[in-house]
Formats: sequence, C-alpha cells, structure tokens
Amino acid sequence: MTRVKRGTYIIRSGGEGTGKTSILNQLKVLHPEMVFVREPGHTTFAERIRAVLLEQQDLDLDPLVEAQLFMAVRLDLLQRVVRPALKEGKVVISDRGFPETFALQWWAGRGKKDFDAFRAWIRDLELPLPDLWILLDLDPKIGLARRSAHGQVNRIDQKPLEYHQRVREGFLEIFNKNPFPSKKIDANRPLPELIKIVDRTVTEVITSSNRE
Ligand code: TMP
Repeated sequence: MTRVKRGTYIIRSGGEGTGKTSILNQLKVLHPEMVFVREPGHTTFAERIRAVLLEQQDLDLDPLVEAQLFMAVRLDLLQRVVRPALKEGKVVISDRGFPETFALQWWAGRGKKDFDAFRAWIRDLELPLPDLWILLDLDPKIGLARRSAHGQVNRIDQKPLEYHQRVREGFLEIFNKNPFPSKKIDANRPLPELIKIVDRTVTEVITSSNRE
C-alpha cells in the first residue's frame, strides 16, 4: 500500500449517530485551512452515485457490487481532490473512507470476510493509507435511535440492528489488526467533550507529522 509522503491524511469512521456532523462542522470552523471531504461524495460524479446508493430505498444490491461502487467513487475523489491536496502538503480530513467499505459491505454485508483479502484489494488499487484513522465507536442501539430522532435516515441506516452490530464488529476487526495509526474514541459521551477529544487527536497527529 502506498504511504502518503506529504500532507496529512485523516479518515473519520464509525457507525450511525456518533455526532460526526457536529464534530466535523466544528473542526471546519477551528481549522479553515484543512481540506474536508466526504465519502461517498464530494466530486460531481461521486455525489451523483451517492444519491443512487443512499436515496433509492428500493435498491437491492449484492454487497460485492455495492463495495465496487463505493470504491469507484472513492477513486474519483482520491484522484481529483485528495492526492493533489496531499501533494501540496495540506491536511485532508475525510468523513468516512475505505474502512466503511470493509465494515459495511465486506464484513457486515458479505458475511465476515477477512480483512487480509480486503487489504490486498486496497493495496492493488494503491489507496493511500491514513496517517490517522479515527474510529468513533458507539453501540448501534444508541446510534440508530439518535439518527432517527434527527429524521435523516438513508437506505443503509434502515438495515436491521444485527447488520449495524456486525458493522461495529467490522470496524473493531480493523482496529484490532492495527494496519495503520488508529485511535478509537468512545462516542457515548456529551458532544462538546467528544469534539474536544477529536480536535486534540487531530492536532496531535498534525504536530507529530510536522516534526518528522
Ligand atoms: P453519511 O454521509 O450520511 O454518513 O452517509 C453515508 C452512508 O454510506 C453511511 O450509511 C455509510 C455508507 N457507506 C458505505 O456503506 N460504504 C462506504 O464505503 C462508505 C464510504 C459509506
């Protein structure tokens, strides 16, 4: 897998209802110089496919087909935005990333397929590995209740609780295999506290990358 040489690449992952929108909005205010992207999305092409993947409630896709689609829009975003920004030495914060494709499609959707095969796939595609992966960990029972209280429920949110429990397991599978610098944060805490922890974590990794 290709290491990012310049810039700092941070991916934020986690299940539903972890407060990520508020966290990212606050980070945008605190760090206007950083480049914020979201997956799936951000580029024109990726936003179009996002609408198909998430808003068409009757779409019934094989998890492997779904994985390929998420990966295709990711490659578009990496080529057009992320790699050029990293090359310029910028900090890129990605709201979701390839760990989602592993946890949601590969692990939860395909029936706990091993991380090693997935790792080989992302290596072949030469995906940049994050300098830091932030996992906001939360019991899906709490997360889904929060999410439906906010009224924004996409096609994937509507899957059964057991699916979301497997997603959490999938994220923890990556975390336990420790393939890149990672930080797991318990998201079951008041939002202002969570924002402070995430900001401190981001600032620490940037400071340490600058020292290298
Ligand atoms: P969000 O932007 O509102 O968090 O919604 C994105 C949804 O897409 C969320 O349900 C997670 C899902 N997703 C996947 O299933 N696979 C992926 O690879 C990515 C990036 C997201």
